[in-house]
Amino acid sequence: MSENIESVLTEKRVFEPSEETARAARIKQADLDAMYGKAESDHAGFWADLARSELHWQKAFSEVLDDSEAPFFRWFADGELNVSENCIDRHLEDRGDKPAIVFEGEEGDTATYTFRDVHREVCLFANALKAKGVEMGDRVVIYMPMIPQAVFAMQACARIGAIHSVVFGGFSADALRDRINDCEAKAVITADGGTRGGKVQPTKKGVDDAIAGGCKTVSTVFVYQRAGNEVNMTDGRDVWWHEAVADQPAECEPARIPAEHPLYLLYTSGSTGKPKGIQHSTAGYLLNAVVTCKWVFDLRDDDVFWCTADVGWVTGHTYVAFGPMACGVTQVMYEGAPTIPDGGRIWRLTQNHGVTVFYTAPTAIRALMKLGDDFPNSCDLSKLRILGTVGEPINPEAWMWYYQVIGGERCPIVDTWWQTETGAHMISPLPGVTPLKPGSCTRPLPGIAADVVDEEGHSITEPDQGGYLVIKKPWPSMLRTIWGDPQRYKDTYWPKFDGKYYLAGDSARKDADGYFWIMGRIDDVVNVSGHRLGTMEVESALVAHEQVAEAAVVGIPHEVKGEGIFAFVVLKGERPEGGYDEKLVKELIQWVGKQIGPIAKPEDIRFADNLPKTRSGKIMRRLLRNVAQGKEVEGDTSTLENPAIIEQLQGRS
Ligand code: PRX
Repeated sequence: MSENIESVLTEKRVFEPSEETARAARIKQADLDAMYGKAESDHAGFWADLARSELHWQKAFSEVLDDSEAPFFRWFADGELNVSENCIDRHLEDRGDKPAIVFEGEEGDTATYTFRDVHREVCLFANALKAKGVEMGDRVVIYMPMIPQAVFAMQACARIGAIHSVVFGGFSADALRDRINDCEAKAVITADGGTRGGKVQPTKKGVDDAIAGGCKTVSTVFVYQRAGNEVNMTDGRDVWWHEAVADQPAECEPARIPAEHPLYLLYTSGSTGKPKGIQHSTAGYLLNAVVTCKWVFDLRDDDVFWCTADVGWVTGHTYVAFGPMACGVTQVMYEGAPTIPDGGRIWRLTQNHGVTVFYTAPTAIRALMKLGDDFPNSCDLSKLRILGTVGEPINPEAWMWYYQVIGGERCPIVDTWWQTETGAHMISPLPGVTPLKPGSCTRPLPGIAADVVDEEGHSITEPDQGGYLVIKKPWPSMLRTIWGDPQRYKDTYWPKFDGKYYLAGDSARKDADGYFWIMGRIDDVVNVSGHRLGTMEVESALVAHEQVAEAAVVGIPHEVKGEGIFAFVVLKGERPEGGYDEKLVKELIQWVGKQIGPIAKPEDIRFADNLPKTRSGKIMRRLLRNVAQGKEVEGDTSTLENPAIIEQLQGRS
């Protein structure tokens, strides 16, 4: 913890909401105070009221929070509802002809789906799933490009109570296979291919390769025809989406789903090699998705919302597939790279589709900022009213650019702190209410008992002292467990403070105004472009290469990605001359890309005879981080078993 505790206190700017945004805000300061008050005095009752008013129930709940088996919490457990019905059917009467998804492909092709269209597509596909024997509780893996059909597939699963697990289309076949096998998926939904950066990514081939490596549980692979690339169809297993829906009725009764039934699993990295299947509930998850869309994005009927996240990440679940749909707003979806054909693509999309609320990640903001102001300045971005960011702390320079150049100093920036595990925003400003400080996610939302505590679990009251970010009370959209591994759930998220507080794995500080500043991770996790990667996962991938005996990876600051990966490798054979071998470095980088996906590729690799270890054999990552950043190795090295190795790692011997 100690190395996290120092914080650089440079940011002093405060941006008060303008009179206009304050006046327009859905939630005013007085409302917010009342919400905090209610949540404080009756935590469960606060959420129960919202669950009744915001969700449509097939059977009302009478139990609110069941904490009898903590930390396995249950919310609204005797209620029944259907997420797909909440997201689609309930809009049909008033908003049936309103666009739900306005889609644009990289090559400029467009498609608009109204809520009625979405209803039809989802029902057809839900029926196709059923026809192939997919039932309530079965797992279905979705491995698709960022196209509306990915959302339809998720919604169709939700409609029949199948538990979906989206695997990011950029992940490799090996990563896909591990996830299919971990959840024992009965079916996989994919596309022939998707387009990104002018190239077709053969998604179906990824599925074939994954299954060829052994996925015994998969009996059906649905293939949506998107890119038109050639694919192999395996008889008896593979079926084209359009053929599967051809004879299906366009109505599918939404199943009655118990509130605690898992809605989806989403695999995320932890500090060990094996990804964790984060299990989300049905009702609690949807509740936080809906209320945060209203509180944080202030979504209204005439908004056009655009969250740029892929549905392979949690952001694309909560703020593409579910939250905005449940709120009945129009949203933009884009398949492709942000800089094709040039750095103006995102801003033209924003202009052309009249986007009012825009949500993206700091890594994208930095990448676009580097391309200069001309692109955004040549677009009319005047419809924008709220900007959001997520995934990592945003550096004040990028924040200011976003605020001034994109938002015209008019749009509040909601810097939303949350995680795959939390399901929805936890700490965030409310637009028009919360004064903003660049780089701070400001304050916890009502009903979210976030705090910063010391090693003993005591709240840190002194300003700017770093500590553990914890959540002290359960909240509806919290993860329920790790799929198939409840012990790991307990060990990972409730290991300290007598198991009373949820441990987020981030360190944070609160300033004198009670604003939260996220300082970094406390575990061995690297945040690359706003996505968590476990260092162990990358290490396991490296060690799987025939020439590698041992590997250690650390995060290094990266101008665009936030953090990049730097790897130290011990070869089975001799260390290359001078500690470097360009050809092998390239090969290993490609290798990791193949094993996990391009996102996990190391920036650089250094070879050593050994790694710095304590006498008990633990790798001293603190030292490796210093070496990777070209810094002097600081701090205590007396526990090192092999001190001479530091010189070698620094390239001095
Ligand atoms: O370290 C925090 C960082 O991203 C982690 C969660 O990663 P993931 O589960 O992949 O979800 C990303 C999208 C929700 C957190 O533990 N993080 C996320 N949002 C912020 C952030 N760090 C600082 N500020 C944020 N707004």
